Amino acid sequence: MKLALLGYGKMGREIERVALSRGHSIGLVIDISNQNELTSENLQKLDVVIDFSTPSSAVANILACFDAGIPIVCGTTGWNKDLLRISEICKEKNQALFHSSNFSIGVNILFAVNEYLAGIMNGFPQYDVRMEETHHTQKLDAPSGTAITIAEQIISRLDRKNAWSLYGNGSHDDIAVKAIREGDINGIHDVIYESDVDYISLKHYAKSRKGFALGAVIAAEYINGKKGIYTMRNVMGL
Ligand SMILES: NC(=O)c1ccc[n+]([C@@H]2O[C@H](COP(=O)([O-])OP(=O)(O)OC[C@H]3O[C@@H](n4cnc5c(N)ncnc54)[C@H](O)[C@@H]3O)[C@@H](O)[C@H]2O)c1
Repeated sequence: MKLALLGYGKMGREIERVALSRGHSIGLVIDISNQNELTSENLQKLDVVIDFSTPSSAVANILACFDAGIPIVCGTTGWNKDLLRISEICKEKNQALFHSSNFSIGVNILFAVNEYLAGIMNGFPQYDVRMEETHHTQKLDAPSGTAITIAEQIISRLDRKNAWSLYGNGSHDDIAVKAIREGDINGIHDVIYESDVDYISLKHYAKSRKGFALGAVIAAEYINGKKGIYTMRNVMGL
């Protein structure tokens, strides 16, 4: 496949390495200094676009791909509030979008276990749940998109929770999400159920960015030639 990379930062560079190692080529790289090259004419020379840019640029980049008729894999986080609207536009225009707050295979396994565990916890009200996520200091959004996905999954399965908030608001139906920013940490997510006598921790630790990059390239291979909206659930059969 011939790919375009929108965003050539830490993830864009890692995706380039993984894509080349899997036999793909990079036909276009867009970053902040050459946004004028993001035209339908340039995009139409490519098979799939992969966007790992910024929360404020992702939506415009997705819409540009819809207009050009090119499938897009979007890993950028922090634009959740627009997801419903973008999904509707994708369906109306019969375009292709693959999105995930986290492309790591391990995190997507954690997502599946998280839903299962939250369902079990309906029978065990002595446990309260809270979350912690830790990332490097350059991360723009907090809590992470992955933490929001985990919190929303818990809310959908655990009857006694119906909201989440950063650091918690003290109410029993709220999930407190602590966001820690330190060093060069690639991503740690921890879901903690605590009772008076013990606690259970469901934790994922990303050793490097390679797992996210590999998942994004696999997503690009999957969406090539397709129409519709996809997530890692489609790829992993979860
Ligand atoms: N879904 C996942 O698995 C996953 C994993 C890691 C990071 N992320 C997300 O991916 C995004 C990028 O992460 P990163 O660590 O590479 O950040 P980064 O800051 O290293 O890179 C972002 C790049 O986007 C560029 N950019 C800014 N505006 C742009 C525009 N309009 N068009 C194109 N490029 C533009 C910046 O100049 C920068 O080079 C973040 O939102 C992050 O949260 C997602």
